[in-house]
Amino acid sequence: MTLHNDIERVLISEQEITAGIDRVAREVTQAYSGQDFTVVSVLKGSCVFAADLIRRIPIPLELAFLAASSYGDGTVSGNLEINFFPTGNEIEGRRLLLVDDILDTGRTLHRVRAELLARGAMDVRTCVFLDKPSRRTAALEADFRCFEVEDLFVVGYGLDYAGRYRNLPYVGALKSEIFAKSKASG
Ligand code: XMP
Repeated sequence: MTLHNDIERVLISEQEITAGIDRVAREVTQAYSGQDFTVVSVLKGSCVFAADLIRRIPIPLELAFLAASSYGDGTVSGNLEINFFPTGNEIEGRRLLLVDDILDTGRTLHRVRAELLARGAMDVRTCVFLDKPSRRTAALEADFRCFEVEDLFVVGYGLDYAGRYRNLPYVGALKSEIFAKSKASG
C-alpha cells in the first residue's frame, strides 16, 4: 500500500504543476528584475513549492522562513501561531515575497503580512501555489498564484492531512474514508 491508494482523484498533475510554476516564476522574475528581494517561505506547507519556484527565478534573491500553523490535525481552521525565523535585518527595509502553499480563508497571509510590515518590511507581496477564492474571509488577494482550486480539501505537493501526504508529487483529493477513519480514531 502506498499514499497513492488514499487518493480519490488527481486534481493537478506533475506536468501541470511544472507549467504553472514556470509561468509564475516568469511573472515574479519580471516584477522584481533589478530589485533586491527576499522570498519568505511559510512552513511547512510551502517548502516544496518554494524550492521549485526559486530555482526557476534567475535573478538575485535571498531566502528566509517562518512557520504558521492554524489547522492542527484536522481540516477546520483553528488558532494561528506564527514563529518568525527571519531575524530583524532580514525583514527591516526589505522587499519580501511571502510564499505559501494555499490561500484559503486568507487569514494566515493577512496576519503574517501585517506582522512583517509592522516589523519594518518595505513591501510585502504574496505568491501562492493554490488559491481557493470561494473560501475567502480576509481582505487579501495573492499578487501571484499558480492555480485556482474548488472548495475541496486537497493534499500533496507540500499540503498535508494530519501531517501526511506532503510528499505526493501532484495535488489530489483524498478518499472520503480517510477522513472517516481519522474521525473514528479520534
Ligand atoms: P487560510 O485559511 O489562513 O489557510 O488562508 C491557509 C493554511 O491553511 C491550510 N489549508 C489547507 N491545507 N489542504 C491542506 O492540506 C487544504 O485544502 C487546505 N486549505 C487550507 C494550509 O496550511 C494553508 O497554509
